[in-house]
Amino acid sequence: MLIAHITDLHLRTEGELAFSGRIDTAQRLASAVDYLNAFRPRPDLALVTGDLVDFGKPEEYANLRRVLGRLEIPAYLIPGNHDHRENLRTAYADHGYLPRSGFLHYVVEGHPVRLIGLDTLDQGKVGGLMCKDRLDWLDARLGEARDRPTLLFMHHPPYSTGMVRMDGYACVGGAEMGEVVRRHPQVERVVCGHLHRATVRRWCGTVISSSPATAPEVALNIHNAGIHGWVETPPYVGFYLWQDGGIVSHLAAVDDAKPVNPFQY
Ligand SMILES: [Fe+2]
Ligand SMILES: [Fe+2]
Repeated sequence: MLIAHITDLHLRTEGELAFSGRIDTAQRLASAVDYLNAFRPRPDLALVTGDLVDFGKPEEYANLRRVLGRLEIPAYLIPGNHDHRENLRTAYADHGYLPRSGFLHYVVEGHPVRLIGLDTLDQGKVGGLMCKDRLDWLDARLGEARDRPTLLFMHHPPYSTGMVRMDGYACVGGAEMGEVVRRHPQVERVVCGHLHRATVRRWCGTVISSSPATAPEVALNIHNAGIHGWVETPPYVGFYLWQDGGIVSHLAAVDDAKPVNPFQY
């Protein structure tokens, strides 16, 4: 099973640039979609982990449907802090895995790896939240299938990174979520967005990571020693390959689609 992952798309309305009017996030997403459509072997599906649009507006979701709709594999969406839960639900009413009310969390069955999407949106806040209701839901879902390898996907990372500004916008309830995960060793991996950077750590008996965005990256700044801002790196796509009883992950800059030179050996 090959799982693709894109995150932090930050789409505006059609024709509108993001990041202070400088970045065409729709074009960057389109590049990632083209890359995935051409990728072989074809991924089974794509996880899309929030900040789908920039202000949660219906017109932005219409633009998202226009661009992401060209993706030729199934896409599973969860919200980030830039999303609006009800506008997202309305725009994707045809995505049958999305609950018709309440949190936008769900289970994807029918694959070698069981997938659980989590909704960490705390509407109106930049940081995320795993409240008791959501923790209980996760605990119940994990309790249903203790023998199935499972991947969790969410927007806000429930761990700190040393990037002090971003850590201030992490996931309240992250430690409590960690206790739930620790009780369920079938969780092979947890994947996040929000940071606009690649990070990885051991966490509560599993491996947790974040993937860079299709939008620009956050400049690396550890312990407030560097600049706070954005850097215009290529759009990134993540992959999780279930192989030999484990998940191995890869990150690919969409620019990798243009090989410089083939191996000579
Ligand atoms: Fe973001
Ligand atoms: Fe975010």
